[in-house]
Amino acid sequence: MPEPLRLGVNIDHVATIRNARGGDHPDPVRAARIVAEVGGDGITAHLREDRRHIRDDDLARIREATDLPLNLEMAATDEMLAIALRHQPHAACIVPEKREERTTEGGLDAAGQHNRIAPIVEQLRDAGIRVSLFIEAEERQLDAAIRLRAPVVEFHTGEYAHAIQDGDSERTERELRRITDMAALAAKNGIEPHAGHGLTFDNVQPIAAIPQLAELNIGHYLIGEAVFTGLEPAIRRMRELMDDAR
Ligand code: PXP
Repeated sequence: MPEPLRLGVNIDHVATIRNARGGDHPDPVRAARIVAEVGGDGITAHLREDRRHIRDDDLARIREATDLPLNLEMAATDEMLAIALRHQPHAACIVPEKREERTTEGGLDAAGQHNRIAPIVEQLRDAGIRVSLFIEAEERQLDAAIRLRAPVVEFHTGEYAHAIQDGDSERTERELRRITDMAALAAKNGIEPHAGHGLTFDNVQPIAAIPQLAELNIGHYLIGEAVFTGLEPAIRRMRELMDDAR
């Protein structure tokens, strides 16, 4: 039997819409409450260096508003470490961050940046925060995660999503194969594999069918769908597709 598959809902882009007008509507905290009501397994939020979506006060309000685990996506910087230690999220996912990128465009170079990441992983771990590394599904990066003693890795599914969007079945198969293989290898090494980025109703099922994956983190597509159907039906539909694929 595959592990049950959790759905973490990334609510960043509720804040993106709010920030477009500078007021307080729509409130990501309201989205967090809906995620809890509809049976989502966790809230994911990325506090970016430029605060383009989630802001510091959102984190405190999200923590207060729901008992769902909060997965804080953060760059490996001293500023973000201090914020994570202050807010004590259930989990922290270390992501690469470039100011000029539109979204997190690739995985963390855990292998090349070992010395920068190691003390951050250690301090988060000492504070009881479950650390995850957002990496490409590559053996070199997984080896680095093992050396860093990260309990969780999240595989970047962006390339897989792009391959499907481009209608390139060969590339899609290749991407799916490497995520499948690396999920198995992670689990074999005692690391819990997660996945996310660019997942939609149309492309989620082959990923959800990978038996070792324990969690998917999905944001942009769900918030986009919510514009048309509401957040609740969008989450329910994603949940259904994930469960059916298992
Ligand atoms: N997981 C991580 C680590 C991310 O950085 C993101 C995007 O912020 C996601 C999942 C969600 O990606 P998307 O918004 O494309 O669903």
